[in-house]
Amino acid sequence: MYSFEGNRVVRDTGADYPIFQAPIGLISRGALVGAVSAAGGVGLMETMFLPIADMQAEFDQVRSRSNQPFGLHLLIAFLQAKPDREKEVLDWALDGKTRFVTTGYGDPTRYIDRIKGAGLTTYHMTDTLEEALRAEDAGVDGIVLGGAEKGGGNGHDNLHSFALLQKARRRLGVPIVAAGGIADGYGMAAAFALGAEGVMMGTRFIASSECPWHDNYKQALVEAEQVIGIQTSAVPNSNVMRAVRTPYAEAVARGEAGQNQGPYSGDAGAMFYGGKMDVALIGCGESAVLIDEVKSAGEIVTDTVREFWQEIERLADLRKPLVV
Ligand SMILES: Cc1cc2nc3c(=O)[nH]c(=O)nc-3n(C[C@H](O)[C@H](O)[C@H](O)COP(=O)(O)O)c2cc1C
Repeated sequence: MYSFEGNRVVRDTGADYPIFQAPIGLISRGALVGAVSAAGGVGLMETMFLPIADMQAEFDQVRSRSNQPFGLHLLIAFLQAKPDREKEVLDWALDGKTRFVTTGYGDPTRYIDRIKGAGLTTYHMTDTLEEALRAEDAGVDGIVLGGAEKGGGNGHDNLHSFALLQKARRRLGVPIVAAGGIADGYGMAAAFALGAEGVMMGTRFIASSECPWHDNYKQALVEAEQVIGIQTSAVPNSNVMRAVRTPYAEAVARGEAGQNQGPYSGDAGAMFYGGKMDVALIGCGESAVLIDEVKSAGEIVTDTVREFWQEIERLADLRKPLVV
């Protein structure tokens, strides 16, 4: 095994490995974040929904599971729509309880003075190079760059990672963490070849034992052979949402079911917690087609690291001395 010494993402986060767990709302809490962090990855806790006292309890749960670093995520587009909530979340998140925060999807200049004033390191999550450049100008320490294969919302014309990362590495000076389409160390090695110094995985961590969603959701990801892009107006700044291709998803795509009822276009609660898989969209990235089994979050981190170095070695072995 090798070390990530010298990797700027590891330096900035304090984690052992430059592997982020995506701050997906509802799941990125105590159990999952704690497991990722304990395994040496960068766990990110979401701050969208919970009352502050409950968020503190989740935070304490992460701490009880791990004495390694982890971060908090501030989803700007979501928080700024509720000014009172935004203020209390910022006051809570920036009081020195972590050394690392991510911001995402919104004006990257909005929180930077407060974050830097609090002495924290911060990466901004975005899907466009334009927003990434603005964030770099504003003084963020790194960028999480989402290619259009990712889960969650995507702009219709967003670039996919292959072109996006190569374009970004030419323009950005700060480290890039690639998000979208990555489910293992082979994808991680590919992202590094394109210019990334770290990766973020979302769909892969939904199919983990620590994700609180129903086993049927995780099994649907394991069995997914195809994903479908659904036009939606429900995700801010995005108009395509990816989901496992199911008869329900096809009906939504045809405009015959579940339109305009939130990003999952149906009874998401019955799916997340009741395991009813034909009443809402099974949100995922293209990476769902790469997932073969549910694993613990710790296994996902350690397997990804092992596969990454295996792949780097395989590529290095392609070099054969030139015989003259
Ligand atoms: C079902 C689902 C829900 C998501 N919800 C959020 C969210 O609430 N907040 C957020 O910042 N990103 C969200 N994302 C996007 C992730 O942060 C991340 O960018 C994405 O999962 C990376 O692509 P991958 O799923 O192929 O790994 C979501 C992704 C998925 C699959």
